[in-house]
Amino acid sequence: MKKKVTVPEIIASKGGERVMTMITCYDYTNAKLVDESNIDMILVGDSMGMTMLGYPGTVGVTVDDIIYHTKTVVKGAPNTFVVGDMPFGSYNTDVTDAIRNANRIFAEGGCDCVKLEGGKDMAPVIRAIVKAGIPVCAHIGLTPQTASMLGGFKVQGKSFEAAQQLLDDARAVEEAGAFMVVLEGIPKMVADVITEKISIPTIGIGAGAGCDMQVLVAQDMLGMNAWVPKLAKKYADLRTIILDAYNEFVKESNERSFPDVDHQYNTVIEGIENLK
Ligand code: KIV
Repeated sequence: MKKKVTVPEIIASKGGERVMTMITCYDYTNAKLVDESNIDMILVGDSMGMTMLGYPGTVGVTVDDIIYHTKTVVKGAPNTFVVGDMPFGSYNTDVTDAIRNANRIFAEGGCDCVKLEGGKDMAPVIRAIVKAGIPVCAHIGLTPQTASMLGGFKVQGKSFEAAQQLLDDARAVEEAGAFMVVLEGIPKMVADVITEKISIPTIGIGAGAGCDMQVLVAQDMLGMNAWVPKLAKKYADLRTIILDAYNEFVKESNERSFPDVDHQYNTVIEGIENLK
């Protein structure tokens, strides 16, 4: 059976042979599947805004939403390291608020660390949460919570100056005590330099194969949506499989070929025709 990785093991994996992997997950049934797989970590991401709650983005997801979904995932995946995402508005007000919300996600959700978006500007918040005893995963580059500030879901770090800023952000979150950092939507060349120059593991999503670890949104990689973003690869076509199954159920129900003799209770009751 898979053994849950620990924070020290994740840190020690940097530069090693094995590339640790992370997938988003928001519910018990899928968590059980991830737990049976070789994936090391689950992110209960605020991408649940789009994948579970039908929002246009991640803004609007609440701490209670994250806790609710994290609890179900933790139950389903006892052997997988679980990261609970801090949603927009839960850590950008003041440090006391940030610690209170991180405490709730960590303690009530039962996850193994929290994740929050932001570089240099969020360093004091990261430092305070780590000091409070909660491991923090940072997230820089394309940060979906502040996508409107970035002009949309756009690749970041595309100039020398912007690349330098990202490296400064990576160093700042490391110095503040984050034990790993997500690099989202940045050129491979920039991600490679950051990965080389900091001593905590980088987790790439749209950041190339040189990152220490890789993360994907499950719905993207399983092909559950008609559209797949460039940064994701479709490893399965569940959308087609699910649609075919739904439509086959409708067809067989209408043909009255389902339920057949194997999918019904065939108890024979004498005199049933005399029921009044
Ligand atoms: O919420 C999320 O799914 C994320 C990933 C894109 C890393 O933050």
